[in-house]
Amino acid sequence: MQVDVLDHPLAAVALTILRDESTSRPTFRAALHDLAMMLVYEAARTLPTTPVTVRTPLAETTGARLAVEPVVVPVLRAGLGMLPAAHAFVPDAVSAFIGLARDEETFQPTVYLESVPADLTGRPVLLLDPMLATGGSALHALRLLANRGARGIVVVSVVSAPEGIAALEASGLDLRLVTAAVDDGLNDTAYIVPGLGDAGDRLFGAV
Ligand code: URA
Repeated sequence: MQVDVLDHPLAAVALTILRDESTSRPTFRAALHDLAMMLVYEAARTLPTTPVTVRTPLAETTGARLAVEPVVVPVLRAGLGMLPAAHAFVPDAVSAFIGLARDEETFQPTVYLESVPADLTGRPVLLLDPMLATGGSALHALRLLANRGARGIVVVSVVSAPEGIAALEASGLDLRLVTAAVDDGLNDTAYIVPGLGDAGDRLFGAV
């Protein structure tokens, strides 16, 4: 699996705002949007394009358009915080949704929503999952997408734990990971350390 860790001063600034426990919810949402823009921009580097001819006011020239409409898949809830960034760069993308809740005792994901096209063959897919912790939720989503024909899925995460990266690598799936940080590891409740806490709660409030 190719792992690309975003190395950019603006990404570091946005990530620091996200990590800071004193950051307010509106500021957290805005910083996540900013960082997701950078991550999606990098993740989109591998999208296939088709040459097109356009006329400028001066001459005819060759440009590009995306060859295939990508599918963006936020893992609910927290992945929703990254969706507007994907829409900004890839407005024609189809949005699919996978809702996973984490059992706080077993840390295993349980599915409460799957709204995904039946056939993803030949479609570029970006999976938006801000916290790659154990990798359990991401793997569940990735297997579902792979079973529907998706290949070369790009996982877009804000903070990744080595354990989650190892789980993705061990899956044998054809993947690329774009992340802003690889942190130290997981604590005994499977939160990423230092991490940024519960991304869903910080975005939307604790329910
Ligand atoms: N999910 C989160 O939101 N944060 C973590 O640290 C781990 C999983």
